[in-house]
Amino acid sequence: MNIPYRYIATGLGALVFSGLLYGYAQAGGGHYYAPVTDTVVQEECGSCHMAFAPSMLPARSWQRMMAGLDQHFGDNASLDAATAARVGNYLATHAADAPGQPYRAKLVRGVPDAAAPLRITELPGWVAKHRKVSAREWADPAVRSKSNCSACHTGAPRGYYED
Ligand code: HEC
Ligand code: HEC
Repeated sequence: MNIPYRYIATGLGALVFSGLLYGYAQAGGGHYYAPVTDTVVQEECGSCHMAFAPSMLPARSWQRMMAGLDQHFGDNASLDAATAARVGNYLATHAADAPGQPYRAKLVRGVPDAAAPLRITELPGWVAKHRKVSAREWADPAVRSKSNCSACHTGAPRGYYED
């Protein structure tokens, strides 16, 4: 097995130093994307994969995604109208381009205003940050999908994406 140990080791380091990193994140440092704190969003959008940080996509992307949940990457992720409204509102108010969002420019830099990408893993900023990851690492049985952030970023559920 080719589990990417170096990522796991970094994740453990992040756990030990999370207090420090938290301070750094609060001060506006890199690597931090606030995780979902709403329990309904966590439940509804975190059951098939990690609940992705809303600040990784612009509000228009979340709106487009919420409008097509019945055909969500080959799955039916539909919600009743009230739940969908709550989830959609949470995602939009915490989106990359939401007012007061301090980390907005990081991953969505380079996305044209007219585009509403549905995949974080296709954003130019995300692709650039993962250029050094080899095909062998992507194919690792412990990873399998680029969307499986926490396989490599063990701190991802807490918002940390240091390399
Ligand atoms: C029924 C299972 C299921 C549920 C529930 C679900 N998703 Fe997904 N989602 C998927 C699958 C499958 C993919 C594609 C994963 C892959 O390519 O490996 C995906 C992919 C994504 C991606 C793109 C990841 C990337 O590659 O950048 C985003 C963003 C996303 N989902 C957001 C959400 C949100 C927001 C919700 C809640 C409203 C949600 N998902 C609920 C199954 C689900
Ligand atoms: C196969 C392992 C792997 C997977 C899966 C993966 N990443 Fe990464 N990620 C990396 C590596 C390695 C780096 C550091 C690249 C470098 O420094 O050259 C990185 C860097 C990053 C960075 C930049 C951190 C910084 O230095 O500011 C972010 C943000 C990030 N990843 C988010 C994600 C998200 C979100 C997902 C899931 C949608 C994901 N990654 C999936 C391995 C992975």
